[in-house]
Formats: sequence, C-alpha cells, structure tokens
Amino acid sequence: MHVVIMIGSMGTAGAWRRSGNWLNQFSFENYAQLGRWAESGKVDALFVADTVELAPSQVSSGGAVGKLEPLTLLSAISAVTQNVGLIGTASTTFTEPYNVARQFASLDHLSKGRSGWNIVTSVGGGRNFGPERLADHEQRYARAEEHVQIVKGLWDSWRDDAIVADRNAGVYAKADAIRPIRFRGQHFQVEGPLNLPRPPQGRPVLVQAGASEAGRQFAAAHAEVIFISNQNLEFLQQFYADMKRRVGQRGRDPNHVKILMGVSPIIAPTEGESIALRDELADLVNYSAAIPSLEVTLGVSLSGLGLDSHIPPELLQSDSVGGMGQGQYDNYRKLALEEKLTIRELLRVRATSRAGHWTPVGSPEQLADQLEARIKARACDGFVFNPPYMPQGFELLINGVLPILRRRGLFRSEYDGPTLRDHFGLTRPPALGA
Ligand SMILES: Cc1cc2nc3c(=O)[nH]c(=O)nc-3n(C[C@H](O)[C@H](O)[C@H](O)COP(=O)(O)O)c2cc1C
Repeated sequence: MHVVIMIGSMGTAGAWRRSGNWLNQFSFENYAQLGRWAESGKVDALFVADTVELAPSQVSSGGAVGKLEPLTLLSAISAVTQNVGLIGTASTTFTEPYNVARQFASLDHLSKGRSGWNIVTSVGGGRNFGPERLADHEQRYARAEEHVQIVKGLWDSWRDDAIVADRNAGVYAKADAIRPIRFRGQHFQVEGPLNLPRPPQGRPVLVQAGASEAGRQFAAAHAEVIFISNQNLEFLQQFYADMKRRVGQRGRDPNHVKILMGVSPIIAPTEGESIALRDELADLVNYSAAIPSLEVTLGVSLSGLGLDSHIPPELLQSDSVGGMGQGQYDNYRKLALEEKLTIRELLRVRATSRAGHWTPVGSPEQLADQLEARIKARACDGFVFNPPYMPQGFELLINGVLPILRRRGLFRSEYDGPTLRDHFGLTRPPALGA
C-alpha cells in the first residue's frame, strides 16, 4: 500500500487550540522534523495542498489560517531529506505552463528525483487573478489539458543525453538534443525549449484529484496518482474500477496508476482516548463563526437558520458544484438531506473531517484494520493522510500505525529506490520523440 501524508497545516480547524498542538505553520524546523519522521517511516511522499486565496469566511472562522507556498516549502524539506517524495499543488488555471515545468523540474533536480505535481484546476482564486481566468468548469479543464501537454513537452525538450560537458571540444550541450516544442493552442503559445535539463525522473510524477466527469477524463489521460475523497465505500469501489478501466481504455497500464483515498484519522493510543479526542476537536470549533465556510461549500446562504435547525431541502436542490468542488458538496448535501444532520452536526462533522475525507476514529490497531479492509475491498491502492492534530497525529501514524501495517506485510520496510517513481512503482517515461 502507498502512503502519502499531507502537511502545511496544523490540523483540524480547532486543533491549534489544544495545548501541545503546534501554533506555527510557517516554521522550517517543524517541517524538517516531519520530513525526518516521514523518512523513518518509509512514507512514499509528503504532500502540500494549495489554493491561491484567503477567503474572508476562512479568516473569521477562527481556524488557523495562512499557508506556505508549496514549492518553496518542499524545496526546503528536500535539503534535509534523502528519500521521501515531495508532492505539491499548482493550479493550471492560475499559472503559466513554462513556470510550472521549470519549478517542478528544478525541485526534481535538487531532490534527485523526488518531485510530484498535484494538478488542480482550482475552484476559488479568481479575485486574485482576475475573474476571467476562472472560467467555467469545462473551460478550466480545456486549459488544463493544454497546460499539461505543454509541461510534459517542456520536460521532454531536452534529450536525456543532452549535456556532454566536453572540456576538450568546448561543447557543453549538444545543440540537436535540445529542441523547441512550438506549441500553438487555444489557450497557450509556447515555443520552448525549457531552460533546464530533463528532470532525473524524466517527468515529475503527475497527480490529480478531479472527481467530476471532466476530472476523470483528465486523470485517465494524464494522472499517475489519483487522489479521491469520499466517505462511502461503495462509491470508492466504483470509482476505483471506473478509473482503472478508463486508464486501460486509453492504452495505459492500470497498474501504473495508483488511486489513493483521503483519510483524516482521529487516532489515539486507545479507542476511548480517540473518541474523547474527536469530541474535543469538535468542541474547539467556534460554531457561529464557522457557518460562512459551510455556506461556501454548499453554495447557499444559511442566514436566519439557527445552529440546531435543519437546512430546508429546497435550498439543496441543485446537483451542481459548491465552493470547494463537487465531491465536498455531494458529501455534505447527502448528510443534510439523507442523514438529516442539523447545521451544528454538519459543522461537527466538518470540524474533524477536512475536505470531506474519511474520518475513522480509533486506536492504531483499529485504524490498521480499516485501512487493510479498504485495500482488500479494492477501494484504493493507498491513502493520503491528513493528520487532524500536529505533530502528534503525524507521529502516531509513523510510529503507531505504519509498524502494524508493516508487520502484516502491507507496507514497506525499506525504500525500493531513491525516486518518487520508485516508491510508486512507476516507470521512467522516455522523452517524446527520443
Ligand atoms: C486528497 C485531495 C487533495 C486535493 N488537493 C487540492 C489542492 O491542493 N488544491 C485544490 O484546489 N484542490 C484540491 N483538491 C480538489 C480537487 O483538485 C478537485 O477540484 C475536486 O476533487 C473536485 O473535482 P473536479 O475539479 O473534477 O470538480 C484535492 C482533492 C483531494 C481528494
């Protein structure tokens, strides 16, 4: 099984208020510690998620706000680690492909082949880049398609043997081994080549987490690792089978696409402590202040409704996307309509389950059982953990849960090789036209 751990925040919305939790999510020393722990646990990769905005509803919610820029953070961690993969989010909507190709190639060179790009099309962020950049969903995916083609082309624009560094002949790089890409599309015109040699991995690992139809098509074409967040086992099994089938239909090897599900486990040494911890984390949320963020997720106004009231079903008629994406919207809509949760109860779920991740509660042994069951049920190839409190939630994964999985023969004891592709069992792509 594959294990990725999200970093960059201090846990659930209220976690920072617990005594002993980290208060500073901008400290290099803290992340260096996480990098060392991750490597001692032979974790596949650390992952830094990202959005390029700070919504007023986030600031007023009382949660810990502020985020380091992913590539900068991962570059710093790369300097104090040797093996762990480094996956960062960059949006195709708010970046130019030349910049993205260069940044991830640079991280791949500096980390000796450990970088991965989580490709997102973004939901928010328009207010910082001009509203016209955040076109409709379909347009964003059309732009993403071109963007990724260009990034791949730029990574491949140097042949692997382009640098000869022949001192006698005075030839550093072979001119015919570095070629323009001459991309002319609807959204971009990029001449190339990249101003940097081909990355050690050939291409950094491509990760994607779109759950919509457009997202699935995109993932089937490009993704080597797919992140998915959903609480429902049957949905996950269907998603898993569907994505492996779509990948195969595109002539790609389904075994070379790994599907990892988001988990925000509330673990503590014993079951009783884990339940108490869940309640404590939920109690630490400032409920009235948190309502606006739920409004953003559901795309509706809840004004005039008390915390203990139900959301009228007519407000949730729409099947379409809420602020944080369709998967989130679907999760919370279902909880409100089918499980009849009140606004306070929805906020309690949200208090411990960020981004709609599955939130098992229990001891390390109980969590290991549940993870094993999901792998055996063909719901996923591994997990993206989002520790709900820091740093103890992270440390307990490494020293409490992973050793159990290792004893059961479900998780590695040593890295197979030095690159992120090695960890995921992915082959190094040949350069296009090489
Ligand atoms: C584990 C995981 C991590 C994600 N990380 C990000 C992220 O860093 N930034 C972002 O804007 N969206 C992130 N998303 C959201 C997805 O990119 C996507 O927008 C969402 O799943 C909705 O799918 P759609 O875009 O196909 O509608 C993440 C989703 C999952 C499951």
